[in-house]
Amino acid sequence: MSGNQLAADAKRGFRRSITRILGPRAVFFWGFIEEPAMVAAAFPSSKGLVKAMLEPVDWDNCKLFVEYGPGVGTFCPHILERLPDDGELLVIDTNPLFIDYLKETIEDPRFTAVLGSAEDVEKIVRAHGFERADFVLSGMPISTMPPAVTENILKATYRVLREGGAFLTYQYRDAAYRLTTRHFERTIEEKTYRNIPPCILAWGYKEPRADG
Ligand SMILES: C[S@@+](CC[C@H](N)C(=O)[O-])C[C@H]1O[C@@H](n2cnc3c(N)ncnc32)[C@H](O)[C@@H]1O
Repeated sequence: MSGNQLAADAKRGFRRSITRILGPRAVFFWGFIEEPAMVAAAFPSSKGLVKAMLEPVDWDNCKLFVEYGPGVGTFCPHILERLPDDGELLVIDTNPLFIDYLKETIEDPRFTAVLGSAEDVEKIVRAHGFERADFVLSGMPISTMPPAVTENILKATYRVLREGGAFLTYQYRDAAYRLTTRHFERTIEEKTYRNIPPCILAWGYKEPRADG
């Protein structure tokens, strides 16, 4: 093993120990310092935001729930609490610090964390034995991502969702809401002040086809 590799491993180990001691907020903040554009928020979402966002989900008919950009897993325990026993939660994040942290801290057989990009959701869903997802939640900074990437993600998300399923987003600006209205047949929007800063929530529904 090279000197550089040893130094990188030592740095990773040190970072891991410190952030574990300080807790999820520290892991999140560290992730933000390292990748400010990709993380785009210095603190995780509030409990009020999580509750409002998950409220309309049809949990009885949810076998696969996908989350993009889970960060340190602010939503994960709340999703797992509501998910049926035979349901699965598949989370996808580009940041290895967050994925390592989630794998270490969430012990639930229904939970899988994947290091990757939301752009590859169809491939990732298929690799985990599913054809379709029932609900997809995104905490990604859609307004600051390259437009071509967000377009690909929205198109892939529409394709991977079952009819009657929905795409859920929350953002400080209305970019995610506007994108959702362009890609989904029906969109519901709500503003919540139960988060700092306040957020715009959007639920985009893939409507069942009229020809059945
Ligand atoms: C604002 S944080 C959201 C954290 C968490 N969901 C919350 O609400 O507290 C944005 C997350 O999106 C992730 N992300 C950015 N681009 C991504 C992509 N293309 N695919 C998957 N995750 C991505 C970042 O690594 C980060 O974890």
